[in-house]
Amino acid sequence: MTFRNTTRAWGTLSKSLHWLIVLLIINQWFIASRADALPLGPAKIAALGWHKSFGITILALAIIRLVWRWLNPVPSLAGVAKAWERVLAGFSHFLLYALIFAVPLSGWMMSSARNFPVSWFNAVQLPDLVKPDRGTYELMHDAHGLLFAALVCVALLHVLGALKHHFIDRNDVLKRMLPFGGVK
Ligand code: HEM
Ligand code: HEM
Repeated sequence: MTFRNTTRAWGTLSKSLHWLIVLLIINQWFIASRADALPLGPAKIAALGWHKSFGITILALAIIRLVWRWLNPVPSLAGVAKAWERVLAGFSHFLLYALIFAVPLSGWMMSSARNFPVSWFNAVQLPDLVKPDRGTYELMHDAHGLLFAALVCVALLHVLGALKHHFIDRNDVLKRMLPFGGVK
């Protein structure tokens, strides 16, 4: 396993970023559900503070991931998948990237519009993205939930695609993204 990608396999950094972001997104759902179940008070505000900080972390990791992708070869699906599968994979990857930016940005805008400043683990104070405004808050609140639902749907199709490659087509597409897939 190499640190950088090759034209055949994902490197350690790309794989680590992929799986770290997946775990953090699942964690975001758990924290949001916990915050939702709490009455208004310090515990709810603290839970939302964790949700916002982890959400900003996902945004930062998504930026690193795109920069790293641009600096590295991208493992090819040519010869592994059919043309229509490659188009579908490219489109769904584009949507997944767009959503891992749009979900945290809509959350950040929601908080700014509600006049709740956003910090990263109380260590870095982040600027407000929009001015306080009730209408913008409601719009971003709905957008945050809908974009998350869209992310779940596209991610499920993405998982089905990965499983099809592994169990039906029996190629290395899933193995080359697994931490110890052994594809060089
Ligand atoms: C990829 C990152 C993120 C994911 C997957 C995510 C997911 C979610 C989910 C599933 C909910 C509950 C659904 C709902 O109430 O509509 C939620 C609520 C919330 N999120 Fe996020 N979120 C992310 C990032 C952020 C960020 C960066 C912020 C702010 C800086 C944020 C602020 C909030 C707030 C304030 C709520 C509670 C909304 C309410 O009052 O009902 N989120 N998020
Ligand atoms: C929230 C969940 C997920 C998100 C947001 C996500 C996102 C992405 C993105 C954006 C790519 C494209 C990488 C690039 O071209 O730079 C990718 C690749 C990949 N993902 Fe995921 N993923 C998720 C979950 C999963 C899961 C659960 C699996 C396994 C069952 C998986 C398997 C793969 C595989 C095998 C690739 C490589 C495809 C190829 O080599 O062309 N992903 N993922």
